[in-house]
Amino acid sequence: MTIFATRAFPGTALDELKADHEVIVGGGDFASDAFSNSATRIVALITTVGDTVDDVVLDRLPKLRVVANVAVGVDNVNVAACKARGVVVTNTPDVLSEATATLAFGLLLAAARRIPEGDRFVRAGKFVGFDSGLLVGAPVFGRSLGIVGLGRIGRAMARRARGFGMRVAYAQRNRLSPDVERALGATFLSLDELFQTCDFVSLHCPLTPETRGLATAARFASMKPGSIFVNTSRGPCVDEAALARALVTGPLSAAGLDVYENEPIVEPALLTMDNVVLLPHIGSAESATRAQMADLAVRNVRAVLSGEAPISAV
Ligand code: GLV
Repeated sequence: MTIFATRAFPGTALDELKADHEVIVGGGDFASDAFSNSATRIVALITTVGDTVDDVVLDRLPKLRVVANVAVGVDNVNVAACKARGVVVTNTPDVLSEATATLAFGLLLAAARRIPEGDRFVRAGKFVGFDSGLLVGAPVFGRSLGIVGLGRIGRAMARRARGFGMRVAYAQRNRLSPDVERALGATFLSLDELFQTCDFVSLHCPLTPETRGLATAARFASMKPGSIFVNTSRGPCVDEAALARALVTGPLSAAGLDVYENEPIVEPALLTMDNVVLLPHIGSAESATRAQMADLAVRNVRAVLSGEAPISAV
């Protein structure tokens, strides 16, 4: 059977699939001849966050049975259109939770303690000796962290924060049971309260119609003076221009971003600011994690093609 992967993925999973199937690896999108020439034979797509799987793509794939997205988020896939055509959509939850939370916490620390600024300072030859007023950042230990979306990645973030003596609050559509809240040491707040009261706010929600644009200008304006915003979820959850303004005029002192509203374009104002740490959407980019993601996607493809239940259907 013919399987189209939009690109090569780390690990050996795609190679192993080649033992039983025709596996075509594209050049990073659906524009290649390799895709056009095989489209009518393709039964499975292996995609990632930058690949838009919409009706235009689906119309070209009459034999398609499964879209295996190598990511936990599936906002790049029109899931309803797939379902309407009987196409299964799968993602790669769990295997990337710890890696993504580690990067989010790294961004929190880097933004608070001005780590990239310090690195640039030293490389520029500006370090001329200890100075107690140099690159003084925001305290982390004992401060409060507001987590938007206390799912798998949000909970991994909460555990890291507890290790740093932080008080954890969370906001999401459904409140968790008191037992789970107690185990995580997390206090439930409304989204507005969370933005208003926490020293750090970190997004860990999927992009849905409900979460799109949730970090608004008004919510940024309501944050505490000197607060810090972190986003490793999806850029369109944030009004990026409003964030840039809140970093210039306050109340925010810094931000750490791994995702952008119009990826790969970054709001130009952010590129000129020293108090924002910018990363290129690498939340899950740990070697073992990336291989596990590809492996899970391939196991999902194999399951659907052999008529079994997928491991992680959306
Ligand atoms: C990455 O952004 C993912 O959703 O896994």
